Amino acid sequence: MTIGGGRSFASAPRAVTTNGSEGEWRRAAEPGSESVRRNRADEALLPAAPDHSSVREFSAEYLTSTRRGMWADSREALAGLALADRERVLDVGCGTGELTRVLAEESPGSVYGLDADPDLLAAGRSGDWEPLAGDALRLPATQNAVDLVVCQALLINLPDPAAAVAEFARVASDDVAAIEPDNADVTVESTVDAEAKLAAEARTAYRRGVGTDVALGGAGTREAFREAGLTDVRTARYDHVRTIEPPYAEDDLEAVRRTASGEGLAGDRETLLAGGLSAAAYDELRERWRAVGREAITQVGEDAYRRRELVPFYVTVGSVPAADDASQSD
Ligand SMILES: C[S@@+](CC[C@H](N)C(=O)[O-])C[C@H]1O[C@@H](n2cnc3c(N)ncnc32)[C@H](O)[C@@H]1O
Repeated sequence: MTIGGGRSFASAPRAVTTNGSEGEWRRAAEPGSESVRRNRADEALLPAAPDHSSVREFSAEYLTSTRRGMWADSREALAGLALADRERVLDVGCGTGELTRVLAEESPGSVYGLDADPDLLAAGRSGDWEPLAGDALRLPATQNAVDLVVCQALLINLPDPAAAVAEFARVASDDVAAIEPDNADVTVESTVDAEAKLAAEARTAYRRGVGTDVALGGAGTREAFREAGLTDVRTARYDHVRTIEPPYAEDDLEAVRRTASGEGLAGDRETLLAGGLSAAAYDELRERWRAVGREAITQVGEDAYRRRELVPFYVTVGSVPAADDASQSD
């Protein structure tokens, strides 16, 4: 078997499977094979899924819709990843591969996307990358298996981001990069007067209940990198701007419908209650939320609805110290 670029697995580093035994990368597909490329989204090609019952769940629709347009306007903030020079890149917590596809476009090397949720991998978008099922905290790879490990919006969902970064540093020979949003600094502008304030209120309540640091951003990520022993840590900012305006895309109309039906907020009910919102306060918030959605639908009918959301993402890159450096600091 080969992994990308025709490189023989025997000459590549051995990999450790998630159950700890020596073996190959957990492969979802055979790279370079046309039939596999066509069937990349076929669940039958995926390996047995690791247990992901403790992993926060995301739907494929949520990921494709919230990442729409991301990295399409500018890739300048990815410069520190030196993608043009990489031979093997691993995107951990890749979901449907919204970033993985970008990495594959920018890197001449082999690109792998790993996620604990096989349904997201199966729904993954096209692109020249290989899906792998696995756990971010026990990567199915040996030391130095890839030159760069990347993640996007994964650390904000983990209780111990530094532990994950340390695991990334174990399998990366050169660098680790994390692209993490600061959800405390999201801004919304809308032609529906109440929308910006209500969105901020719901976000604050969500942050209180979510149990991980969803506002990790640049400062929190740098801290995790330092804790994990990475050196030369540097950060760039990328603003992901999503706009809804006429002519409305089908995704946009669906988002507005979900606001009006209260569905979007209902998915976060447990988190909001865990953050201290009473059931009555949740119902009241939901009613105001739905009213915003109804007003938005009215404005859509008149081609008057406009919404602009800015989510700041921070691209943090750190270098893996050479083995000699690590032993000196012991
Ligand atoms: C917010 S999504 C980000 C997905 C993708 N990186 C993106 O930006 O579109 C977080 C992803 O991390 C995955 N995930 C969470 N915990 C994980 C773990 N311990 N191991 C592997 N994947 C994990 C989830 O399944 C989900 O796909």
